[in-house]
Amino acid sequence: MLNQENQEGRRQFLKIGAFLGTAAIAAPVLAAAQLEKEVFPENKNDGITKTRILGSGKHSLNVSALGLGCMGMSWNRSFVPDRKNSISVIRKAYEMGVNFFDTAEAYGPFANEELVGEAIAPFRKDIILCSKFGFDIQNNKLTGGFNSDPKHIRQVVDQSLKRLKTDVIDLLYQHRVDPKIPMEDVAGAVKDLIEQGKVKNFGLSEAGAESIRKAHAIQPLTAIQTELSLMSREAITEIFPVCEELGIGFVPYSPLCRAYLTGYLNERTKFDPANDNRPSLPRYTPEAIRANWKIVEFLTDFGNQRGLTPAQISLAWLLALKPYVVPIPGTTKLAHLQENMLSADITLSKAELDNITQTITGIRIVGDRYAAPQTK
Ligand SMILES: NC(=O)c1ccc[n+]([C@@H]2O[C@H](COP(=O)([O-])OP(=O)(O)OC[C@H]3O[C@@H](n4cnc5c(N)ncnc54)[C@H](OP(=O)(O)O)[C@@H]3O)[C@@H](O)[C@H]2O)c1
Repeated sequence: MLNQENQEGRRQFLKIGAFLGTAAIAAPVLAAAQLEKEVFPENKNDGITKTRILGSGKHSLNVSALGLGCMGMSWNRSFVPDRKNSISVIRKAYEMGVNFFDTAEAYGPFANEELVGEAIAPFRKDIILCSKFGFDIQNNKLTGGFNSDPKHIRQVVDQSLKRLKTDVIDLLYQHRVDPKIPMEDVAGAVKDLIEQGKVKNFGLSEAGAESIRKAHAIQPLTAIQTELSLMSREAITEIFPVCEELGIGFVPYSPLCRAYLTGYLNERTKFDPANDNRPSLPRYTPEAIRANWKIVEFLTDFGNQRGLTPAQISLAWLLALKPYVVPIPGTTKLAHLQENMLSADITLSKAELDNITQTITGIRIVGDRYAAPQTK
């Protein structure tokens, strides 16, 4: 649950900022505020004010309408920014109203949990902290295999708790379904951890409908975290129906298609293969980047009419899909964080949504999202 007292603190902080700004340059700021209200009709300050509910009943979570994906601050996005910068982006996100933070044992591995643990320490009790287990890690390196052996899950959680500097993980996901371990055993292990108070809620990442049903029967699931964006829409038909039937939330990861939908990548973008998974994904070859460019052009043209960026349209489109959808865009930059969080207050009309959906579905996307299927 969002902590009311802390929400008040945030509002107070933002009000003081607004007051100082008004005193210094009253007329232009007021005019700008009026204009901003017209574009972002429900935004009461620079932050994110909307919340959503993931899951149902005892295992529901009240979270900000957008979360922050922290992976790229340590892993898989080519550069690793200065640690102080990443900590300040995470803390700024909290000040802006974000209460939903995503990390995993695998990110680094380990380094991202350590970073997130340090960054959130001052407001740990006021946020929903999510992590994941399930990749096999040997000598500090991912082997490419999975490990959801119940004994291993228990060890991972104890280690994650230390790195995250906390005594409980609010939402623990299995990162990938492990074909060697029956889902019932995985769910049973997490159920035990919930009973012990080390974990509060359970989620799955890239799980198919059958795995979701098996897990949910043992331990009710709060959220499914799976790739979903304007360019990766499979989950809408494959996973949304089971989420709706069972009352489970959906957390789109890579909601900006790993930066492609922002228009910031192009065929000359140099990824660092030592710390970026995009060179291994078919959608990020120079040929695929060129072939799919019509999408970025459309989003840019559409956005130019509304004064919005391609990233904002992409996130607003996701939010409009269902009330139980909570995307977790990743960023290492304050400017991008602010741009992305404003998406929660963008209202797209039905005609605009239809236009976006129809145009994008009319474009054949070149390059699969992964070289091998992920969902099991
Ligand atoms: N469950 C899973 O298997 C799984 C897999 C992948 C990711 N995830 C989670 O999902 C989160 C997000 O996914 P992601 O990082 O893969 O992809 P993403 O959120 O689609 O894209 C992040 C990339 O977009 C750039 N970006 C973000 N906002 C931008 C903006 N407004 N303008 C221009 N560029 C912008 C970021 O660069 P800058 O830093 O320069 O902004 C970063 O390179 C991760 O942090 C992680 O928590 C989960």
